[in-house]
Amino acid sequence: MSSVLLEVDSVDKRFGGLHAVKQVSMQIRRGEIVGILGPNGAGKTTLFNMLTNFIPPDNGRVIFNGQSLQGVKPHKIVTLGIARTFQLCRPFVGLSVLENVLVGSLGPRVRHDGLGDRAMQLLKQVGLEAKAHTPSELLSYGDLRRLEIARALAAEPELLLLDEPFAGLGSSEIEAISSLIRQLHAEKQLTILLIEHKLREFMQLVSRVIALDFGEVIAEGSPAEIVAHPRVIEAYIGKQTEMAVHHAA
Ligand SMILES: Nc1ncnc2c1ncn2[C@@H]1O[C@H](COP(=O)(O)OP(=O)(O)O)[C@@H](O)[C@H]1O
Ligand SMILES: [Mg+2]
Repeated sequence: MSSVLLEVDSVDKRFGGLHAVKQVSMQIRRGEIVGILGPNGAGKTTLFNMLTNFIPPDNGRVIFNGQSLQGVKPHKIVTLGIARTFQLCRPFVGLSVLENVLVGSLGPRVRHDGLGDRAMQLLKQVGLEAKAHTPSELLSYGDLRRLEIARALAAEPELLLLDEPFAGLGSSEIEAISSLIRQLHAEKQLTILLIEHKLREFMQLVSRVIALDFGEVIAEGSPAEIVAHPRVIEAYIGKQTEMAVHHAA
């Protein structure tokens, strides 16, 4: 079995005149937690959308577990072992927390006996056991994040894509979700690709970072290398500093 789980080869996406993702390539090895960093509009979510064929790339290839994903429908990709969470939480309204997780486990990948027990086990793992029968629309933002993660895990993925799991959360919730991700990674030998903006938690979580700006990979390296990289400072950290100055003024 190859150590490379996911290979992205020169994927490209245009939306009309906007070149949102430009010839992005990357290799993700089994068991890694890799961070995708970049300012708003850099093309991070579009990249995730292309990994799951939610939006098929215009050009380039995505190879997962040695298999090309070209033409494979998103629901089929889940059964191959890629699951994702969304930047904006999307529970199935009208379903309970437990039912939401059960929906995530439908499909040929997952054994159908004992589904309920395993869904409860997942809820326990993410800290939502007590809210199993709560309607999902009543959850707090932090709990919705947990639900999203549990639902994605119900598909028993090898690769988990997390799109801004800390968005909209306060610092104690960020810490809790962060340690949950760390724990899941350790327990399930998951490979994780993580998009985030919250630099500090992000850098503590990931072993490697790929930085994007205007749809292009501008840097790749360890967290320490990335925060010191001139193009990253210019593209991302510079903008934050500008923003901080702006707020102070
Ligand atoms: N479905 C779409 N149609 C048109 N433009 C889009 C679409 N999705 C994203 N974009 C544009 O592509 C660029 C990259 O967006 P996105 O991938 O969401 O960035 P990020 O997640 O890094 O903030 C942005 O300029 C965004 O407005
Ligand atoms: Mg995004």
